[in-house]
Amino acid sequence: MSNALRTLSKRLPSLASTAMLLLLAGLATACDEAHPRDAYAHPAADASEISAWFYNMYMVLDTIIFVGVLAAFFIALIKYRKKPGDNTLPEQSFGDPRLEIAWTIVPTLVVLGITVPTLGGLFELAKRPDQNQKIIDIEVTGKQWWWELDYKKEHINTGNEMHVEVGTQVMLHLTSADVIHAWWVPRLSGKRDATPGRSYPLNFRPKEVGSFDGQCAELCGASHALMGIRIIVHPKDGPDSYENWVKHTQEIAAKPTTPAAEAGQKVFMGKGCVACHSISGVSELAVGARSRTSGPNLTHVGSRDYIAAHTLKNTPENIATWVKNPQAVKPGALMTNLGLTDQEAKDVAAFLTSLK
Ligand code: CUA
Repeated sequence: MSNALRTLSKRLPSLASTAMLLLLAGLATACDEAHPRDAYAHPAADASEISAWFYNMYMVLDTIIFVGVLAAFFIALIKYRKKPGDNTLPEQSFGDPRLEIAWTIVPTLVVLGITVPTLGGLFELAKRPDQNQKIIDIEVTGKQWWWELDYKKEHINTGNEMHVEVGTQVMLHLTSADVIHAWWVPRLSGKRDATPGRSYPLNFRPKEVGSFDGQCAELCGASHALMGIRIIVHPKDGPDSYENWVKHTQEIAAKPTTPAAEAGQKVFMGKGCVACHSISGVSELAVGARSRTSGPNLTHVGSRDYIAAHTLKNTPENIATWVKNPQAVKPGALMTNLGLTDQEAKDVAAFLTSLK
């Protein structure tokens, strides 16, 4: 054995334990709370629980198969290796009916074992929810690069941040105004395409109060990566309840109360923002207008956590940056650069921030 090989064989145990530690660290962080989109360790709705169950079942099954194949490989490697001084040929054989039958039946059983429950899960996910219960019906339209949300019964039109209620059935109807997008909020449900000219259902019942983030999951153009989603699951009662959110959101926009916000409203009305954005009580476009150019309804934009579809935190500074040069924040954004001055951008930010 050469020196290099000898050193390597001495170091092998410590290399193996380092690799094992790295693997364990990776596995531990994969399940960490710091990964808010991790559906498999932390499902928060009935639909994502089904997906998580399948994911975990496949992980266990695949691990058993992986370990079994590796074990057979190493046993064969060690048991049948050439012994020193033994120069005879191993016994030569051709075909073994028992083996042939075994490696046909075992994979068939594995495939059947995966297919049958998977079909069951698919039917379960596609089941139309019982209509004799409270259902939050929302039409979701993907647009380059944001999501329009239309609450049919509640007559609410908003964007990007969806509000629902814990324990209540949610039915989304997904479509698109331009190209194919895909709705994906991993902790609440699986992915579903939003396709122009079609409407696909997606049902889930949230089980946890909180904020759940998601992402457009279909490459849809320059700012595909900046097409985020947030779903806020409200409790049933208390000041933060879903019903209170509905009541508040149905109200028309608050009147500006500071000179900066008043100046901002004038800029909003006079410089062209009004051509694409509705603010109830200030400027009304047809609610839910599906034109390519109409932008999100801004009636209560001040109460959102993010702007520009989860691209920037909702702060006055960020709104000013965004309205001054949208394409610098979001490549290809359809929002026009209106050539606002710094002061005008600041005033618009003061106005929009006041729309709680
Ligand atoms: Cu929309 Cu990717």
